[in-house]
Amino acid sequence: MRILGIETSCDETGAAVIEAESTPIQSGSKNKKVKLISNVLASSLTLHSKTGGIIPETAAREQIKYIIPVIEQALVKSNPNSEWKMENLKMINPDIDAIAVTVGPGLIGSLLVGVETAKTLSYIFRKPIIPVNHLFGHIYANWIMDNGKWKMENILFPAVALVVSGGHTDLVLMKNHGSIKWLGGTRDDAAGEAFDKIGRLLGLPYPGGPEIERAAEKGDPKAFKFPRPMIDSDDFDFSFSGLKTAVLREVAKLDKIEEKTVADISLAVEEAIIDVLVYKTLKAAQKYKVKSILLGGGVAANQSLREKLKWSMVNDKLSIKLFVPPKSLCTDNAAMIAAAAFYNYKPVEWRRVTANSELYFY
Ligand code: KG4
Ligand code: ZN
Repeated sequence: MRILGIETSCDETGAAVIEAESTPIQSGSKNKKVKLISNVLASSLTLHSKTGGIIPETAAREQIKYIIPVIEQALVKSNPNSEWKMENLKMINPDIDAIAVTVGPGLIGSLLVGVETAKTLSYIFRKPIIPVNHLFGHIYANWIMDNGKWKMENILFPAVALVVSGGHTDLVLMKNHGSIKWLGGTRDDAAGEAFDKIGRLLGLPYPGGPEIERAAEKGDPKAFKFPRPMIDSDDFDFSFSGLKTAVLREVAKLDKIEEKTVADISLAVEEAIIDVLVYKTLKAAQKYKVKSILLGGGVAANQSLREKLKWSMVNDKLSIKLFVPPKSLCTDNAAMIAAAAFYNYKPVEWRRVTANSELYFY
């Protein structure tokens, strides 16, 4: 079966088609990965980079501009021989079996664009529509095959997933598809948000995460040391706002921020954030005796986080498998939304599908 995914929760407009060998799975341990057929993304990031952050109304207006061309491209790319075009609606029905759409959490103006478009397409083409939680989507990026290969090891349950994005830092326990228990999360800023805010303090463009990662490559590991917030707490919670204050204090001492200082602070910040993320993830994995650890969300694109987690698992001799999506599927995309819909296939009548900016999975 083929599913068209639509993602518009923030500043990316995404549409993608995934293909699964079998029919949808509601539960059970069937875990064969899905294949990526097309994946199209339009981003308004450069606009937000100019304003140093996302202005919700600008993001929503950009979503409106891109949504139809992006969906059209995803469908055309998924079936290059077809004559399918949005303006030729009456001619050909697209080669898909269902439509998946992000319904929350996210910016309400942006979400509405994707949700209302998906409902319209569902109505016109008579295809079932599956509402998807964006955070679920980040986890399910792990079930998409890399480069279309039907290889890949199966992801075994139970699993612990670390979702680290611009708005969220959550540790969850997955006993099966659709069975998710929240273990802990940030009490203030999300990890990505901390990268973004500290990036701004250092005079780096938005988003700060990739910029700090790049700057950190030239950093001196001995120059600065920042606290590892809540690393010893007896729970699976995080806190990153204190780190921002610690950086602010250092920056205030300087007359001018040299490139070298930006690199040194970037490295120290990256290490502090990653240490806490890795420590708590492994603690949760051991406590719940999981078979797999899954990473997801924009911050999971960070190479040092990926490597530190892998290295720590080897070091602790843990017989747990680590799954990390390709970097392009860590940040927001629609393929992960379609994949989540396949493994949690619960179509809803289009009239009952609504955007909800506050939606959480716990
Ligand atoms: O998942 P995502 O694309 O959007 C949300 O759902 O929020 O995540 C965006 C976040 C931003 O805060 C960005 O700074 C961060 O992910 N990010 C990174 C990297 N790439 C993106 N953080 C650290 N290192 C990276 N390479
Ligand atoms: Zn996201």
